Amino acid sequence: MTPYSAIITGTGSCLPEKRLTNDDLSKLVDTNDEWITQRTGIKERRIASPGESTLSFASKAATAALKSAGLEPKHLDLIICATVTPELSMPATACMVGASLGLSTTPAFDVSAACSGFLYAVHMASAFIECGRYKNVLVIGAETLTRVVDYQDRSSCILFGDGGGAVVLSRSQEPKRGVLYSSIHADGNGWEYLYTLPGARTPISSEMIASRQHFMRIRGREIFKFAVTRFNELIDDAMSKTGLGIDDIKLIVPHQVNLRIIDSAMERLGLPREKAFINIEKYGNTSAASIPIALDEALRQGRLKKGDVALMVAFGAGLTWANAVIRI
Ligand SMILES: CC(C)(COP(=O)(O)OP(=O)(O)OC[C@H]1O[C@@H](n2cnc3c(N)ncnc32)[C@H](O)[C@@H]1OP(=O)(O)O)[C@@H](O)C(=O)NCCC(=O)NCCS
Repeated sequence: MTPYSAIITGTGSCLPEKRLTNDDLSKLVDTNDEWITQRTGIKERRIASPGESTLSFASKAATAALKSAGLEPKHLDLIICATVTPELSMPATACMVGASLGLSTTPAFDVSAACSGFLYAVHMASAFIECGRYKNVLVIGAETLTRVVDYQDRSSCILFGDGGGAVVLSRSQEPKRGVLYSSIHADGNGWEYLYTLPGARTPISSEMIASRQHFMRIRGREIFKFAVTRFNELIDDAMSKTGLGIDDIKLIVPHQVNLRIIDSAMERLGLPREKAFINIEKYGNTSAASIPIALDEALRQGRLKKGDVALMVAFGAGLTWANAVIRI
């Protein structure tokens, strides 16, 4: 045990103004509002306008998080950005966020763990803080998924939206506050369930574009089953490792993957839907941005207050999955 804990001192989020409703999508592909609402819980999602992208969402969310923490960029020791839609393939979006904040020496790197990315980054950031190496770490999740989604594929284009969220994790000596527990996991055997070309294996080519293979490919049914199983395991793991009971948890903040997945987990736990934070109807699945956006909204809406315990669970491409238990 170290004397330090990693507490959340600030949160922020950024959603693009532009909305894409289910009715809008029904004009692009053979789908309808009723199907999408029943199967996913999504009513609309936010989409980037020209000139907006992962960097702008990440920078705005980061600025808001710093403001709410009462810190200036110079106080940051490290920036981690979780994303699978980086601003560029190289360099890391986190480096560009640092520059946008006026920083020129602060270390920065990206984490690629898809929808689990933000919790992967929290896991790392809290380890850096708890061991005494860093005082303030900016953790961002930001995505522009609508730029890699195929708007001719009805099974995937209905799911995703854009945006960014950020938290500042800071060193504290208050016992039993901040990140109480976190875990991360991966099984690369399931990589084919959800992936995006191109890459080193298959560089971009005109043939790839002509056959629309440069867009995200998803096997939704398999991911659905995987997510239900992991959701339950992650909750059980968090409870047993922290020794907390479900009544000690104020709010479950799950990755906003599909309302049916969230409902089935809540049902198994015998909990009402209100015990989970849900905003999927407004934003769809924003991958790594989903949990930090939800966390920021939960705090701003007063659903989480100082001393409350939040339990976060995420699962996604990789396959990856992760959890975190944080006392606000
Ligand atoms: C994608 C997802 C919503 C599909 O829901 P589902 O209940 O599993 O639906 P299925 O894939 O079994 O498809 C059922 C039928 O609806 C059809 N369908 C698929 N998308 C549709 C759409 N947008 N509108 C109307 N019909 C659609 C299918 O073609 C299928 O028709 P068929 O029975 O004639 O073949 C759901 O599987 C899901 O949320 N998966 C996880 C999402 C994910 O991977 N997120 C990213 C990682 S976290």
